[in-house]
Amino acid sequence: MRHESILLIGGSGFIGSRIAARLVADGRRVIVPTRRLARAGHLSVLPTLQIVEADVFDERALDRLLPQVDAVINLVGVLHSRPGDPWGPAFDHAHVALPRLLAQACARHAVVRVLHMSALGASADGPSMYLRSKAAGEKLLLEAPGLQVTAFRPSVVFGPDDSFLNLFAKLQALSPVMPLGGADARFQPVYVGDVAHAFADALDDPGSVGKVYELVGPRIYTLRELVQLAGVYSGHARPVIPLPALVARLQALLLEWVPGGPLMSRDNLNSMKADNVASGRHPLPPHWTPTPLEAVAPDYLRG
Ligand SMILES: NC(=O)c1ccc[n+]([C@@H]2O[C@H](COP(=O)([O-])OP(=O)(O)OC[C@H]3O[C@@H](n4cnc5c(N)ncnc54)[C@H](OP(=O)(O)O)[C@@H]3O)[C@@H](O)[C@H]2O)c1
Repeated sequence: MRHESILLIGGSGFIGSRIAARLVADGRRVIVPTRRLARAGHLSVLPTLQIVEADVFDERALDRLLPQVDAVINLVGVLHSRPGDPWGPAFDHAHVALPRLLAQACARHAVVRVLHMSALGASADGPSMYLRSKAAGEKLLLEAPGLQVTAFRPSVVFGPDDSFLNLFAKLQALSPVMPLGGADARFQPVYVGDVAHAFADALDDPGSVGKVYELVGPRIYTLRELVQLAGVYSGHARPVIPLPALVARLQALLLEWVPGGPLMSRDNLNSMKADNVASGRHPLPPHWTPTPLEAVAPDYLRG
């Protein structure tokens, strides 16, 4: 069955914008709910896309939106929360409560197809609140009766407008050295365009129902190597100084309080205790040929 109209929750964000463009290019109708219309303004050029101001945590909003679509993509996620056990309130809200609300709303409106954004390393006994809460939301949707769900677990995602390589490029432009916690943590970065293709390709593929796909790039890097590459590509390479664990925790604690929101948190450091690379426990999407970081990052980091 071809899914013609899609509710793309989180469609205004970094990854969502790429998925929106791909869905529209495929000739589908897309609805992007946003908390603030201005956040999604850049999507208004896409011809078959409608931007709607709505609070997707309000069931009445979901009850208005779901009758207009035949599939849902959920991308809502946050990186930081106040502490809590097994996870803090912001993680509970975005990663667990929303999937629960969505499962219930989809059942009410007989929308069965759901694509859900999880994260690589999501696990009920993961080392961070982020990874534990992502696992809970993913499980909730995969086990919801009557739904046809595919979940996606990307490693860190790179591409123009990413907040990972761009952040490390910016920090190196501002500072003579780069003190770095978790320098030896390993990642397998994946290109945002490949993530968008994985979602769009899965939408009408019955073989993807019930699957959890890991989305990873062709190479594994340490965090230190990624920071060095960001420095080189942006023209601001600085010496990277790996921090001992205790000092890294102190740095993360300070960065939790920077004005404008945390740049980094102790929970982010906890996530890095587990390698963020393909586990082999879940498949890659069919025909997966990921784009090398070296093929795209120099262009947008130089800019
Ligand atoms: N970027 C990565 O490297 C990466 C890696 C692994 C997994 N992921 C997952 O991929 C998903 C998308 O990531 P992204 O980098 O594209 O994120 P993003 O740019 O921050 O976008 C998040 C989107 O969620 C929407 N949203 C709605 N309600 C929200 C709420 N209460 N709190 C926060 N956001 C809310 C936002 O919409 P409005 O602001 O318009 O309302 C926004 O469009 C997330 O689930 C993330 O955990 C990302």
